[in-house]
Amino acid sequence: MPSQLYDFVVVANRLPVDKVGTTDDGEPLYETSPGGLVTALAPVMRSQHGAWVGWAGAPDEAGDAFDSDGMHLVPVELSAQEIEDYYEGMANGTLWPLFHDVIAAPEYHRHWWDAYAKVNRRFAEAAAAQAAEGATVWVQDYQLLLVPMMLREQRPDLRIGFFNHIPFPGYEIFSQLPWRKRVVEGVLGADLVGFQRRSDATNFLRACRRAAGATTRGSHVHVGHGEGRRTVHAAPFPISIDARGFEALASDPAVIERAAQVRTELGDPDAILLGVDRLDYTKGIRHRLSTFKELLEDGALGDKRVVLVQVASPSRERVKAYADLRDEVELIVGRLNGDHGTVGWQPVHYLHQSFPRDEMAALYLAADAMLVTALRDGMNLVAKEYVAARHDDDGVLVLSEFAGAADELHQAVLVNPHDIDGTKGAIVEALGMPKAERRRRMRALRRRVREHDVERWARDFLGALQDGAHAHDEEPAG
Ligand code: F6P
Repeated sequence: MPSQLYDFVVVANRLPVDKVGTTDDGEPLYETSPGGLVTALAPVMRSQHGAWVGWAGAPDEAGDAFDSDGMHLVPVELSAQEIEDYYEGMANGTLWPLFHDVIAAPEYHRHWWDAYAKVNRRFAEAAAAQAAEGATVWVQDYQLLLVPMMLREQRPDLRIGFFNHIPFPGYEIFSQLPWRKRVVEGVLGADLVGFQRRSDATNFLRACRRAAGATTRGSHVHVGHGEGRRTVHAAPFPISIDARGFEALASDPAVIERAAQVRTELGDPDAILLGVDRLDYTKGIRHRLSTFKELLEDGALGDKRVVLVQVASPSRERVKAYADLRDEVELIVGRLNGDHGTVGWQPVHYLHQSFPRDEMAALYLAADAMLVTALRDGMNLVAKEYVAARHDDDGVLVLSEFAGAADELHQAVLVNPHDIDGTKGAIVEALGMPKAERRRRMRALRRRVREHDVERWARDFLGALQDGAHAHDEEPAG
């Protein structure tokens, strides 16, 4: 039992840290990393005396809990085999593709499921050991779907929230999962279940009825019997970014100067298109490249010299579908540049790297149009970062209707990325849009993102969890 207990506990697959070395005794040394979730939760963690339970990102390394930036961080240890079966297997080889509408084929392996349940139990036990009597515990995402119920069984005194950062699929797809009932029951250990879009909450409510035989009324799910009867709320709470922080970063003169330099380094093209994604098959990178290729080939861009900068940050590289995607994307980029480049000029600048936030802000400022053309995406925070960065009220966001952000960012040019002709038209429209129209749209987008930032997301969710009510939920979700 730890010497101190915490009133607010976040449980996420990853700790918000990067390993920066080891101590003289061989203990790992960590530094907190500036992710969106930690930005949102750090103030709550500090004011409410919070602990964060998560994996430190490397095998067989846990080390002792430690304090950093006013937060208490509790590493959960995973063996190399558990990383393979729980993280790469069940989380990213089964649940990720299943929840993203089977864009890649999910694999169902019983030993992956067993590892997933075992690791979820470890997270639940670690959280239970940190939480004070009556504490609030907020469990994050699809890697930990069983944690809410495991936690409730150990600690019925806790107030438990769960937030699903990725889409929740329709029942026709979800029902493929051999462990569908256990997953739904796992999530229903929470008092409040948050989703990115209303449609995700609706899909979940249907899964509660069909897979677990629960009764629902509007967005309430009734679980248990007699004295154990409880009501769980399922509602949308769209996540966001630290909009003011991002705007401030993009307003830094060094970033503005870097944006101009990027343009020069790209050969001063007439227009810059930008894609920024983890290298993931859900992001529609192949479709985007095919669309751009056709635009170059059929002359729809006229005599404009247009480049596409595609940042594809390395992700889940040991999962086969990701390794295959990298090969395919790099083949397409190589062919495209081979066919359409000249000495000193290439149409696609492909960067298989992660960049610091200030370099990203400079790229956003330099881009005439941002292409967020995911085939399926829970939210897509890149779309919101682009908008927050554009303090000059310029630039056009081309946004997939299959990204959660499309529910909020109505002034973007919305596309169906499967429709190559439609997406080509949208890019041509974006590049030809009059300045006044760009400004009108960008101002409205910026207002939305500024007013609905990540701090508000956390406040709304935690407020609703405390109230036992649910925000943004006037209409019954059916
Ligand atoms: O979008 C879901 C998510 O798990 C994010 O929380 C995370 O930043 C991203 O995918 C990368 O995931 P991973 O932890 O697998 O690298």
